Amino acid sequence: MAHRRTFSARFPDMRNVSLDDPPLTPIPNITELPMLSSRKPRAYWIRTTFLALFVLVAVSVYVLLVSPPALRPIAFLDVDHSRADEAARPSRWTPEALRLAALKHRRPLTSTTLANNARPQISLNQTQELAAVSSFIASLPQNMIPSTVDPSQPIDPQLVLDFDTRGPRAEQELQAVVHDVWARNPVMLYSKVHSPISREIKQVLADLYLRPAPTIVDVDQRPDENVLVPLLYRLTSTNELPILLVGGRTVGSPREIRYLAAKGELQRLITDAGGVIDGARKKKAKKL
Ligand SMILES: *[C@@H]1O[C@H](CO)[C@@H](O)[C@H](O)[C@H]1NC(C)=O
Repeated sequence: MAHRRTFSARFPDMRNVSLDDPPLTPIPNITELPMLSSRKPRAYWIRTTFLALFVLVAVSVYVLLVSPPALRPIAFLDVDHSRADEAARPSRWTPEALRLAALKHRRPLTSTTLANNARPQISLNQTQELAAVSSFIASLPQNMIPSTVDPSQPIDPQLVLDFDTRGPRAEQELQAVVHDVWARNPVMLYSKVHSPISREIKQVLADLYLRPAPTIVDVDQRPDENVLVPLLYRLTSTNELPILLVGGRTVGSPREIRYLAAKGELQRLITDAGGVIDGARKKKAKKL
C-alpha cells in the first residue's frame, strides 16, 4: 500500500492518462505526454545520427587538410611559424616540418625556398640597405658580400641581416640595426690602401683623434672588392673612393671633405653623429 501511494503521488499524471481519461479529452497537461513519449525516441535517433555524421566530417577534414603537412609543406610551415611567438604548438609539427624548420634556422634560404614562402621579406630602401651592408661589414672582418650578388640590384636582406627577415618583428629589428650601426660607427670610411686620396682622408680623420675611432674599411684588401665597390657606389650615389659616412650620411667627394674639415664643418657633423673630437687624444695624453 505504501508503495502504491508513493508511485501515484510521484506520477499522478500517468495514472490519470492510463486509467481515467479518454484519449481525446483536451486537458493540456495530459495531451502533452503522449506526444513526448512517441517523439522522444525519434528525436534521439536523429540527434545521434547528426552527431555521428558531424564527427565523421570533422575527422575527415582533419585527416585530409590538417594532419599530413606533406600535402602542402611550405604553407603549413609558414602559418605555424608566423604564430610561433604567440603560442608554440609543437604537437602539430610532424618530423618533416621540424626538419624544414631546422634547416630554415641553420642557413639562409635559397632563392627557390624564398619564392615558396608566404610571408614577404622586408624590403630595404637605400638608406636601410647602406646601413645593413655597413653593419654586416663592420661587425666581423670575415663577413664578405657573396660574389653572386648583383650590385646593381637591391641586396637580399637575409645575406646581411642576422635576424629572421620574414619574422613578425623584422621591421623593428631593422630599425634597431640602422640605429646601432651608426651609433657604433659614427665615422666610417670606405677607402683603399693603394690610393693617395684615401691616405689623405685617413690623415684628416687621424688628426681629429676621434672617439670612437673611425671605422676604416680598405676595400682593396677584401676578396669581395669587385661586388662591394659598385654596391657602395650605388648606395651612396658616388663613383669614387674613399667614401666617408658620418652618422650614415655620405659627406661628399674628397675635395668636399677637405673643404669641410678646413672650415670646421666636418667636426660639427661628427659631433652631431655622436663622435668625440680629440676624445682619443686626451686618453692618449693620460696614458703617456
Ligand atoms: C628609408 O626608410 C626609413 C624608415 O622608414 C626612413 O626613415 C628613410 O628616410 C627612408 N630613406 C629613403 C631614402 O627613402
